[in-house]
Amino acid sequence: MASLADGAFVVLAYPPRDVLVALVDGAPVAIEDACNHAGASLGTGPRDGDVVACPLHKYRFSLRSGELLSPRRACAHQRCFHAVVLGPAVHVYDTFSLDVAHSPLGKAF
Ligand code: FES
Repeated sequence: MASLADGAFVVLAYPPRDVLVALVDGAPVAIEDACNHAGASLGTGPRDGDVVACPLHKYRFSLRSGELLSPRRACAHQRCFHAVVLGPAVHVYDTFSLDVAHSPLGKAF
């Protein structure tokens, strides 16, 4: 299984959403996995540094901020979450919720 340390994405269930987690410059970042344009999984799209391209229509989003980089104003920005690495697992949470999702122990790294 590919790991965050290898540059791979990890997609965690965070009902009712899925959250895409990546390492950017060694720090975990997290955005909603479903593209807000038409719902494709960004976790299956190609990555270029801190940018992910949607696999369906190639819109590009910042992994750091969820900002839609191109095409401008074609849809909204992606929702962001907080991601924290604790030991061998990564955890994500939303500041507006007490729920936490985490990777299976030892699977992310
Ligand atoms: S579904 Fe992602 S750009 Fe259209």
